[in-house]
Amino acid sequence: MTVIGRQQLAPIEGDYNLTNYEEACQHISWDEVKQQFSWSESGLVNMAYECIDKHVVDGYGNKIGLHYVNGAYEETYTFAEIKEKTDHIATVLRNQGVKKGDFVFIFLPKHPDCYFAMIATIKLGAIAGPLFEAFMEEAVKDRISDCDGRFLITDTDLLKRVPKNELPSLEKIFITDDVQLLGEKEISLIKELEKTEIEEDITTWVDLEHGLNIHYTSGSTGKPKGIIHAHRAMVHQYQTGKWVLDLKEDDVYWCTAHPGWVTGTVYGIFTPWLNRATIVVNGGRFDAKGWYHTLETAGVSVWYSAPTAYRMLMAEGNDLPNNYDLSNLRHLLSVGEPLNPEVIYWGQETLGKRIHDTWWMTETGAQLIVNLPSEVIKPGSMGRPFPGISIAILDDDGIEQSRGSIGHLAIKAPWPGMMKEVWKNEEKYQSYFPFEGWYVSGDLAVQDEDGYIFFQGRSDDMINSSGERIGPFEVESKLIEHPAVAEAGVIGKPDVLRGEIVKAFIVLRKGYTGSDALLEEIRKFVKTRLAAHSAPREMEIVSELPKTKISGKILRRELKARELAKLSQQVQ
Ligand code: PRX
Repeated sequence: MTVIGRQQLAPIEGDYNLTNYEEACQHISWDEVKQQFSWSESGLVNMAYECIDKHVVDGYGNKIGLHYVNGAYEETYTFAEIKEKTDHIATVLRNQGVKKGDFVFIFLPKHPDCYFAMIATIKLGAIAGPLFEAFMEEAVKDRISDCDGRFLITDTDLLKRVPKNELPSLEKIFITDDVQLLGEKEISLIKELEKTEIEEDITTWVDLEHGLNIHYTSGSTGKPKGIIHAHRAMVHQYQTGKWVLDLKEDDVYWCTAHPGWVTGTVYGIFTPWLNRATIVVNGGRFDAKGWYHTLETAGVSVWYSAPTAYRMLMAEGNDLPNNYDLSNLRHLLSVGEPLNPEVIYWGQETLGKRIHDTWWMTETGAQLIVNLPSEVIKPGSMGRPFPGISIAILDDDGIEQSRGSIGHLAIKAPWPGMMKEVWKNEEKYQSYFPFEGWYVSGDLAVQDEDGYIFFQGRSDDMINSSGERIGPFEVESKLIEHPAVAEAGVIGKPDVLRGEIVKAFIVLRKGYTGSDALLEEIRKFVKTRLAAHSAPREMEIVSELPKTKISGKILRRELKARELAKLSQQVQ
């Protein structure tokens, strides 16, 4: 692979779906993309139809649509089988009262049943509410009760975390595994399927603006908010699948996220299936050997994961992947949090592939800033706007900033994947649009002369030390380049003299012990390689960093809260 200049990575030669970024930016027409869908002629829309049934109608019924791997266990399903299964489940749900516009919550592990339940729900025009499998009672309760949810699909194991008595709205709970003893509201899906004949014409047609899925997202205040997307999002999702994931006829695609997280639904189900790819579902928890095994066994060619996962693989050493045949793997992508350049270099050295960062949010419904396989990567950058998407860097008054200046990352609204509403919270929805025509993301970013966008932190994470604005991500990235540092979280700590100082919490790699000398060495490392004002004035070694449950992102806000609590104790 060619390294351009000091850092940039040239594209690997390949036959990509998109070969000329500039041209695509000039010529993309969302109306043309719409021609790909059956509803452009029929006027009848349903995401589930476009994901599954259409492929059967088009003659791809025998193609494998889903490959499930759980350790040594494997299962595959063709598109025809998935159509039959989801028609069948949809028939049962409909007979039990589920109808267009109802919320159906799905609380299942990464297992084919979860994917079938999602598609069956959507076939009926109901709104699918997938819940992350690691949610505990409070999180399950908050979400179902916010929607006055009447229906839930789960299994006997996860049912233990559903506080039924505190959810008066819940009428029916469908259990997917073999269960002998049923509680009051519980229904055995297996038994119902046995006694129900499949109704083939089960699809409920809806309009493009109809609700499709709901995902809850946390802000800096209050309870998580329910973001609802519409069926129209498929236009955006399909096209990013084509150009960013570069999906083709023979691709085997693995998105490691659980559908309870927006990536696991949009890029784990909708986008690959809209593009007729085979999806891989990997059961069980993260385990480096298990993951390499899945890549090998399923013959994964396109892989979408997250920086945390890549860092965890990195921590297991560079030799491990050599034990597996990863020759099918051709395209790697990342999302969800800053992708440290170090991780990209690791991917290049260890797997011989570039890792393509992408940026989007629950609210945006699909990728907006991307690194395309045919374009140069500047490590540390999230890439450039997807063709058809306009971005701007705004100051606090909504004035566009020049290239190179830091500001609020904003997107020209609307775009096809944009959220439809924030459930029962119009005020929150409106708060994303403080300036006419712009969606303001809450992220800070810089755009360089070539249009590449560099993430600088959430707007509330920024550090201001002696008037210098410092993005924590930049400092964290530099810290983890030091051989002793496994992970780092950086915050601004209040300081009388400087306003704030940079404080780093670090987790050491195995084999290193903390000492003043080591900390000083790490500090110097940042000072000399990044900038003096960015070097942490304070450092603390911790055994682990607080992270978000769903996506494993470093919770800087929590580090800051701890620090502020310590300071106030000192004052008292
Ligand atoms: O701060 C940005 C970060 O994740 C936020 C969105 O989080 P969520 O709604 O959970 O969706 C995650 C996946 C779609 C953003 O506001 N984020 C997302 N991608 C990146 C990122 N930060 C840095 N680099 C990225 N590539």
